[in-house]
Amino acid sequence: MLAELSPALIAEVQRAAKILADKKCICILTGAGVSAESGIPTFRDKQTGLWENYAAEDLATPDAFARDPKLVWSWYQWRRQLVADKTPNPAHTTLAQWQQHAANNHQQLTLITQNVDDLHEQAGSTVTHLHGNLWQNRCSQCDTTYENHSNRLANSKNDMVFDEDLITCQHCGGYIRPDIVWFGEALPVQAWQTAEEAAANCEVFISIGTSSLVYPAAGLAQLAKKNGAIIIEINPNPTPNTIVDITLAEKAGIIMSLLMQKITALSSIQPLL
Ligand code: OAD
Repeated sequence: MLAELSPALIAEVQRAAKILADKKCICILTGAGVSAESGIPTFRDKQTGLWENYAAEDLATPDAFARDPKLVWSWYQWRRQLVADKTPNPAHTTLAQWQQHAANNHQQLTLITQNVDDLHEQAGSTVTHLHGNLWQNRCSQCDTTYENHSNRLANSKNDMVFDEDLITCQHCGGYIRPDIVWFGEALPVQAWQTAEEAAANCEVFISIGTSSLVYPAAGLAQLAKKNGAIIIEINPNPTPNTIVDITLAEKAGIIMSLLMQKITALSSIQPLL
């Protein structure tokens, strides 16, 4: 696979590795592209099967749920089914190893994700979720976390039943919804604070597998840049992000593996992998 990379791209990965090798404070933002090699479609991929006539942007909204809760709930149950058996790819595992290495060497590597899957956690990372968690539910009216008392739906994916029937809150009767941040909704306060602090204080900001279209997450790179950080982007496709210093235009799994090899080779301290 590495043999297929152009010499110019390999040189850019080497340049990124040199910059990263001695940095103490790194912030990484991931998006749907980091899970693409695990078989999870990105948001802007066309949907397939039963959902091919729907756009994700039209379903992941509070208005869509208010209009047709059954439709939105069914879509999320379908997405859960799609994600349930997926496992981390080399991008997730390399990030987890890097984070562990950083912790052992008094470096700060903050991992922020827009993804609602748990592949970073499965790989062993500590990660801040900006857009919620696909495996948790709460009431759409009173916000109470939904516990699986009835056994009709699980809060853990291991015993998840992908039932499309709507469920109501035992406290207020409101419909249960996925605990996910939808378009037009505010991000979780603590998660956003962690992300802003990490972006504002980092020396290098790495954006991996995100289209950089959805704010406020897309603004984190700008915040980092304003505070003097070097910006690296890993994405096989162009994005509207115009402040990038190093573009690594290939799949995240391939680039992250090579990047780690190069950082390890440059590292004077304990080997990385
Ligand atoms: P998008 O679907 O908008 O973008 C995915 C990005 O991943 C694209 O830029 C692809 O080029 C890139 N990509 C695809 N395969 C890749 C690979 N193997 N390695 C690296 N990059 C790859 O997903 P996000 O940017 O995550 O929000 O979308 C941001 C938010 O918009 C999502 O969290 C979601 C959404 O709709 C909510 O649901 C609130």
